[in-house]
Amino acid sequence: MSLSFLTTAEEIRLQTAALVAQGRRLALVPTMGCLHAGHLALVEAARKRAEVVALSIFVNPIQFGQGEDFGRYPRQLEEDTRICERAGVDWLYAPTAEQVYPPGFQTYVTCEALSQPLCGQSRPTHFRGVATVVCKLLALFRPAWAVFGEKDFQQLCLICAMNRDLGLGAEVVGVPTVREGDGLALSSRNKLLSMEERKQATALFRALSTAKQRCCQGERSAPFLIEEARQSLLQAGIRTDYIAIVDGATLQPVERIEAEGARMLIAGFAGTTRLIDNMVLSPT
Ligand code: PAF
Repeated sequence: MSLSFLTTAEEIRLQTAALVAQGRRLALVPTMGCLHAGHLALVEAARKRAEVVALSIFVNPIQFGQGEDFGRYPRQLEEDTRICERAGVDWLYAPTAEQVYPPGFQTYVTCEALSQPLCGQSRPTHFRGVATVVCKLLALFRPAWAVFGEKDFQQLCLICAMNRDLGLGAEVVGVPTVREGDGLALSSRNKLLSMEERKQATALFRALSTAKQRCCQGERSAPFLIEEARQSLLQAGIRTDYIAIVDGATLQPVERIEAEGARMLIAGFAGTTRLIDNMVLSPT
């Protein structure tokens, strides 16, 4: 099957109804475009499961707060179309803001507890924007699977909860973070980094890896690991937004790393670009 552009909600409804009638299943990969190898891993995970893979590209204005980087977020639809063709994506959906949020739009989805901590502290409207757009996409495509990266770990937890709470019927799949050779997590925002900031940015991965190593060696104190990570980010010139060690299911902070699934999450700025990353700490 070659790549088709789906442009209207009506077309998507007709196409998805035809799939159901043929007994074929759909996996959806929601993205904001500027596709990289991390997105290709999502497409691969989708392809493994479903007969048809849809990918959406939409730089969602309502998940950016005032003064954030909506305006300078990288956009490259033509190049992304070629990448989708090469990756074997079947359907590409790149709606306009007016299509997603027509005049009079006033209905938002809020995932209460999971949107409060971590990124929610410095980006108070971010997750409402994410949950609203993902809810709309899931309601429109009704995919059997919806695929997201683990790099945005809080987002992944919140989408799982929303999908469950609203009975949207998809199986949410989390795909491990894809990294550069030096450990930097792939992100469309990496394009915004200067050469100097790109070097600084590897500090996030180093801080996470050190914490994991200490944990494997028997260190159990979350405050100790957080402080060590804070110092190493400071030395690298990264302005820390937060460093936290949380239970991977509830996102509640843990004091001692005893149970499986404890994760360290970091958000920080290299220059003016906000980067996030995370890693499981507890030895598995
Ligand atoms: O992770 C992203 O790219 C976005 O937050 C998402 C899930 C596509 C919603 O706009």
